[in-house]
Amino acid sequence: APDIDVAAVRADLAALQTIAERHGGDRAHGSPGYRASVDHLKAKLDAAGFATTVQRFSYDGSTGYNLVADWPGGDAEHVVMAGSHLDSVPGAPGINDNGSGSAAVLEVALAVAESGLKPTRHLRFVWWGAEEYGMVGSGHYVDGLAADDRARIDAYLNFDMLGSRNAGYFVYDDDPELEEVFTDWYADRGVATEAETEGDGRSDHTPFQDAGIRVGGLFSGAETAKSRTQADKWGGTAGRPFDPCYHSSCDSVTNIDPVALDRNTDAIAHAVWRLSS
Ligand code: PHE
Ligand code: CA
Ligand code: ZN
Ligand code: ZN
Ligand code: ZN
Repeated sequence: APDIDVAAVRADLAALQTIAERHGGDRAHGSPGYRASVDHLKAKLDAAGFATTVQRFSYDGSTGYNLVADWPGGDAEHVVMAGSHLDSVPGAPGINDNGSGSAAVLEVALAVAESGLKPTRHLRFVWWGAEEYGMVGSGHYVDGLAADDRARIDAYLNFDMLGSRNAGYFVYDDDPELEEVFTDWYADRGVATEAETEGDGRSDHTPFQDAGIRVGGLFSGAETAKSRTQADKWGGTAGRPFDPCYHSSCDSVTNIDPVALDRNTDAIAHAVWRLSS
C-alpha cells in the first residue's frame, strides 16, 4: 500500500472547515453545509473514476444523504467496504468528528485510483449522513440491503475520529482477523495500540455488526480522559480528554494531531490493500 501524504488529508480538512464557515458554522444533517460536503467529495471521486451514487433518506423532516463510491472491478461476490460519517453535530465544523475519518477514507480512495489498483475483491467507500442522530444513514443503508447483498460484504471498516489532539490508538476488537490487519501495521512501526471499547454501539459499524457483517476500524478517542499509563506510552496529557473539542464549536482544523492523522490514514491504506487483494 502507498504511504498517503498527510498534507493532502489536511487540505481536505481545510476545505471542510471552509464549507462549514460558508454555511453557518456547521455541516450537520439537514443543513446546507452537509450537502456541500457531499458535493465536494463526490466531485473528487467522480473525477478519479469512481462510480458514485447518492442515497437519499429522510430524518426529522430533512433529507439526508449517503455518498457511495464504487471502484470499478473486483469480484462483486466479495465486497470490502470502508466508511466514515460526514455529518457534524449542529454548531460545530466537525473537523476531528468526523472530517478526519472522511478525509482519510477519501485520500485512500483517491490513492486506489491513482495507483490503478486492480483488487481481487470489489472495493466500496461510503460517507454516511446523520450519524450524529443515531447512525441514521448507515442504518438506512444496511436496512435497504437484500439478504444476498449483505452476504456479499466480507468486511465493513469504520473510521470515526482519527486525529484527536490528545490522541490514543484504538483498534476495534470486534473481529480478530480485521483487528490484526491494523495491529500488525502499528506493531511494525512500534506504536502501541489498545482494543477499542469506548465506541461499542456508538458509530456506523453498529448497523453492519447487527446484520452479521464483520467489522473493524480505528479511533483516536473522544471525551474520555487519557490515563497516566496511556500518556506514558502515547505522549500527550493525562487527565485530559482525547479530544478536548468533542462536539464543540472548537472542533476546527487546529483540533487535530497530524501525527495520529497520518498514521491512521496510512493504516487504512494498508488494510484496504490487504483485504481487497
Ligand atoms: N460516534 C461518536 C460521535 O460521532 C464518536 C465515537 C466513535 C465515540 C467511536 C466512541 C467511539 O460522536
Ligand atoms: Ca503518510
Ligand atoms: Zn468473501
Ligand atoms: Zn460525534
Ligand atoms: Zn463521530
